[in-house]
Amino acid sequence: MRRVTEPGTGKRHIARFTRKDHGLAGDHRLHSPTFERNAPPIIAVLSAYLLGRTGNILEIGSGTGQHAAAFTLAFPTLTWIASDPFTEHLESIAAWQAALGIAGPPPVTLDATEDWAETPAIQALRPLAGIYAGNVTHISPWEVTEGLLAGAGKALSEGGRLFLYGPFRDGTEFFGEGNRQFDADLRADDPDWGLRDMAHIEALGRAHGLRAEARHAMPANNHILVLARQG
Ligand SMILES: C[S@@+](CC[C@H](N)C(=O)[O-])C[C@H]1O[C@@H](n2cnc3c(N)ncnc32)[C@H](O)[C@@H]1O
Repeated sequence: MRRVTEPGTGKRHIARFTRKDHGLAGDHRLHSPTFERNAPPIIAVLSAYLLGRTGNILEIGSGTGQHAAAFTLAFPTLTWIASDPFTEHLESIAAWQAALGIAGPPPVTLDATEDWAETPAIQALRPLAGIYAGNVTHISPWEVTEGLLAGAGKALSEGGRLFLYGPFRDGTEFFGEGNRQFDADLRADDPDWGLRDMAHIEALGRAHGLRAEARHAMPANNHILVLARQG
């Protein structure tokens, strides 16, 4: 993993993404090492909630944009809006859209630590039918998760859902030795990062009007947490 600091903002993220030579000049597409493995089971779970639905779904922390592209193609009745705070990720998201002929909206610059639900770009999309964030809560400070939940409480429609995918803890227990080691590695690098307790996320969600609806066990010791906006 390679830590990257965004020029100008000083913000940091982990870059496990790579570039491949597609033989196209100016190709900004980045590749996630886990996209091919993770996307099909995520789509299978999301389908139960989203298939045939309409409205705007905001993805937070879209990274390469590969998931956003796959979700756009899997759920054609929805409008999938990708976002990220980092320029190289926004460029990659747009490049995947162009390469796959996706005519959806361009990615939005969004930092979850800010009051993102009140920005003009997100105001124009509200109320959101759903929000998805994959592999974001552990590779960022807790304030990112706080901002994500606070904004979801404001921006989701009544009954709209927040989907959080990734590795989580159950109290102090990890799902597998690999997750325990991953958490230790993240915290050794940055004490503000690390796998989050599912109950901690759900409790904070309740404070923002979100009801903990489901926990889906996923391959490779990951989970999808589903929180629904209460009326
Ligand atoms: C590990 S990547 C996951 C990317 C993608 N969702 C996936 O599953 O492959 C974490 C993502 O969170 C984004 N991120 C980091 N800090 C953020 C913040 N403050 N607000 C929104 N996204 C953030 C990063 O730019 C990166 O794209």
